[in-house]
Amino acid sequence: MTITGDQRQLQGGAPTHDDDDYYEQDNFGRFSRRNMLRWLIGLSTGAFALAFGVPTFAIKSLQLTVQEIGAGDQLVYATAASGAAAGDPIQASAIQVGSAVQAFPKGKADNQQNLVEIVRTAPGSGKEGLVAYSAICTHLGCVVYANLTNEGRIGCPCHASQFDPANDAAVVGGPAPRPLPSLPIEVAADGTITAAGPFDGKVGVA
Ligand code: FES
Repeated sequence: MTITGDQRQLQGGAPTHDDDDYYEQDNFGRFSRRNMLRWLIGLSTGAFALAFGVPTFAIKSLQLTVQEIGAGDQLVYATAASGAAAGDPIQASAIQVGSAVQAFPKGKADNQQNLVEIVRTAPGSGKEGLVAYSAICTHLGCVVYANLTNEGRIGCPCHASQFDPANDAAVVGGPAPRPLPSLPIEVAADGTITAAGPFDGKVGVA
């Protein structure tokens, strides 16, 4: 027959190491081994949550704040140009043949990966003659020049890569390994330019 710790103590015996209450509390209310173990487990769990939970929360918060360009985003001037202020909507008719404008999707300028280079390669109405590419160089991620070169190319100031806007931004010089990603665009009835979707490839360094 098994004698419990309570029965043993009623019989005048002292609790042994096998009795639950031996570990709970001694006669002087001192911290028992069981409570010490619980306290250590709680402390370890808290430390684990802090070590892994807080960074995970921070990363998720960061991800929520990064907004990528997408269909329906109106394109606005990245910097003041041609009498327009930064943030003003870009009129398709304001971009002359052989010139370029750098733009951000409205409300998403915090993400530099959204920077767009809009180029007019030929005269036309609506989106005819207009093309748009990522303004982030595919070599090491520098921002390309806002103005085209004398040859009508998109140039990079860092290592002199050049892209041909009339030929899907193909690399025509320098170390860039691939063309600038293309951005599909639409021109609205009021003449403003909007994105018709995301870039067709990875922006910047692959
Ligand atoms: Fe553009 Fe190197 S970053 S050429």
